[in-house]
Amino acid sequence: MNSLIPSEKKIAFAGPWITDKELEYVREATINGFYENYDKFAKKLERTVADYVGAKYAIATHCCTVALHASCAALGLKKGDEVICTDFSWIATAYAISYTEATPVFVDIDPDTWTIDPKAIEAAITPKTKAIMLVHTFGQPADMTSIMAIAKKHKIAVIEDAAPALGAEHKGQRVGAIGDFGCFSFQGAKLTVSGEGGILLTNNPDLYEKARMLCNMGRTDSQAVFWSDQLGYQYTIANLTAALALAQVERVEELMAKKRQIFNWYHDRLGSIPGVKFIKEPVGSKGNYCYPSILLEDSIKADRDQILKNFRELNIHCRPAFPRMGRMPAFEKPRFPNPVASQVEKRGISMASAANLNEQDIDFVCKAFKASIGV
Ligand SMILES: Cc1ncc(COP(=O)(O)O)c(C=O)c1O
Repeated sequence: MNSLIPSEKKIAFAGPWITDKELEYVREATINGFYENYDKFAKKLERTVADYVGAKYAIATHCCTVALHASCAALGLKKGDEVICTDFSWIATAYAISYTEATPVFVDIDPDTWTIDPKAIEAAITPKTKAIMLVHTFGQPADMTSIMAIAKKHKIAVIEDAAPALGAEHKGQRVGAIGDFGCFSFQGAKLTVSGEGGILLTNNPDLYEKARMLCNMGRTDSQAVFWSDQLGYQYTIANLTAALALAQVERVEELMAKKRQIFNWYHDRLGSIPGVKFIKEPVGSKGNYCYPSILLEDSIKADRDQILKNFRELNIHCRPAFPRMGRMPAFEKPRFPNPVASQVEKRGISMASAANLNEQDIDFVCKAFKASIGV
């Protein structure tokens, strides 16, 4: 490590690529996005994402967490219901279930993609199971064929937490429109960024109407203008935020190509080191490589957290894998030991992949990584 001099440029974990297009849309929304245009960008964002992903309906929201909650609420989840949920995600995935007072049942992940393991879903089904909440983890598509088959067999709903996964495909079909609901995030570390922001997709007209009403304070106007028929939420997106999100979504293919290039730079340099396992798209599917990630297998003796500390001293910001959600105090004792998620939480790293990184930056990260593990 001693031979490396800290990078002057912050090698950021994530961050957007902003062009004149984004500036133009935000300027237009600031100057003209009121009066008759008050929801112009929000509506255009909804149509653009729905068409791109292949869904009939969309509701742009304040963030993905509330889109996930609105999905759970629209499905009528309630106390006493169980939702089978991956154990490995940002906590928003599980809290969205808990907001309805349903119980998340945390199950293990697949070692190659870190997405929910369909065999673990089957093993966790009980008469109380009402839904599956999967995550397209770090932009890798979950095994939707198996998940949809299980859901059909047991007549339960499917919510796709596709927060970081815009553009990812499962067997030629874009993720986010395969289950009953799919939700994406435009938070600052995602592929397409608006600071905060999210969107919910569905193909089901009844679920769409229910979710739309819930996201608009339960407003129906049924008895009078401003009449609200049930407890709802102020979950809609701001037009100004939608303008930034729209410009980014219109560039999704370009942004995805940059992420794949970053993944390839890492893979070319580290992919053949024994004990370094890259998370990759399954054969026949397509990841968006939002967060290129690796697992340190047992043959690598270096401590994961020490590696991350070494990185920070060199102005490199990589991320440890998520701790298992099921171990957190908001939930009852975990039902399953989930050995894969347990290993990943201790030995997983998501590599820096901000859109402003170039090949030299990735080269520097790889040199620092090799020095840290002694190869
Ligand atoms: C898997 C997953 N789900 C949900 C969310 C929540 O998204 P938001 O911050 O837009 O609410 C995130 C955000 O990081 C996420 O990674």
